[in-house]
Amino acid sequence: MQIARIPLSLYVHWPWCVKKCPYCDFNSHALPQSHQALSERYIDALIADLDASVELAHERTLQSIFIGGGTPSLMSPKLLSRFLEHVAKRYSLAEDIEITMEANPGTIEHGHFGDYRSLGINRLSMGIQSFDNTLLKRLGRIHDQREALLAIETVQKHFDNFNLDVMYALPGQSVEMLRNDLRHATDAQSTHLSFYQLTIEPNTVFAKYEPEDLPDEDTVAIMQETVVETLANVGFEHYEISGYAKPTHRCRHNLNYWQFGDYLAAGAGAHSKITLENGTIVREARYSQPMSFMQHALEDSAVVEKRTVQADELPFEFMLNALRLTDGVPLKTFEERTGLSLETIQPTIEKAQKQGLMPTPLTAIVATEMGQNFLSDLQEYFL
Ligand SMILES: C[S@@+](CC[C@H](N)C(=O)[O-])C[C@H]1O[C@@H](n2cnc3c(N)ncnc32)[C@H](O)[C@@H]1O
Ligand code: SF4
Repeated sequence: MQIARIPLSLYVHWPWCVKKCPYCDFNSHALPQSHQALSERYIDALIADLDASVELAHERTLQSIFIGGGTPSLMSPKLLSRFLEHVAKRYSLAEDIEITMEANPGTIEHGHFGDYRSLGINRLSMGIQSFDNTLLKRLGRIHDQREALLAIETVQKHFDNFNLDVMYALPGQSVEMLRNDLRHATDAQSTHLSFYQLTIEPNTVFAKYEPEDLPDEDTVAIMQETVVETLANVGFEHYEISGYAKPTHRCRHNLNYWQFGDYLAAGAGAHSKITLENGTIVREARYSQPMSFMQHALEDSAVVEKRTVQADELPFEFMLNALRLTDGVPLKTFEERTGLSLETIQPTIEKAQKQGLMPTPLTAIVATEMGQNFLSDLQEYFL
């Protein structure tokens, strides 16, 4: 296995938001009002965590960085600059590196988008969720439609490459309301849109007090079709379950996850996946509570769990990612990224082909349309 041929990314986690949204199960927590000292300490911890991974990178070049959360746009440009300068000192960066940062329209008053751009962030991803004031309230968002539109204007001024996150199947939402959100989202002239179907996640406020007016299954199916059709009509390619991009603007960072590339990680609860020179794949997880993460990163190591992925786990792990992509991945990617021969999964592929879940002949590792509709069943074939 030639590890130099496996692209390498870096994920950085910022675990705070202004307020916790009732549907969200991300590792995100309300940030105390006075947080400067805390934020500075967190950056110190991120830097220490990052330094501990330098050897794992084996002088490979980073293709993408994704600063996610949480709401990383709560970070001051000064702190971001300190962090990014450190990354550049310790790692080699591709000339055309993609550096994404997540932002929330409610924090737009910080007015930092221009600074982020000049510090090297070249892709912004903003959590809009909806443009409907009633729905935004139901979602516990801190912004309204006016702030969403203003935030988009500011992003347009500074970034030519940006994504908007929108959710659908929301409590009290009709297909007509979704059409309205689609109109606003497509008017924004973004290069990328993520349309997520709302899921009720365990341990969230929505799981405890489930909204009674969630759209029924048939309505959700119509909503899904409406999203796909509307976005195709205005030139967005549907390339992943929830991902839609203008040509040449697929998110390189997320593509690397789905193509089973390697990624380093820094920050509370962040996970990495690295292929070592001998071909072994190692996954590491970090302490997820921000306070324990900081303490461990600064005193010793933020890694709480490290494990080697066994050969018999690799086909399922690979399919969990690759089959999400509408075009799948080239056949040779399986061998290049897992170190296994395609023959090891040939009987399973044949079974999936017989069921019509994968195409015949197999020109790529890809699901048929039916395979996409029964994706978890298909993925489980490879367990
Ligand atoms: C980590 S958030 C990033 C942006 C930023 N924190 C914000 O919310 O504005 C990533 C995205 O996941 C989506 N998301 C979060 N919880 C979800 C859920 N339960 N169901 C579907 N999508 C969800 C939202 O669209 C959100 O923008
Ligand atoms: S959806 Fe975004 S803003 Fe809301 S709690 Fe989750 S990460 Fe924070």
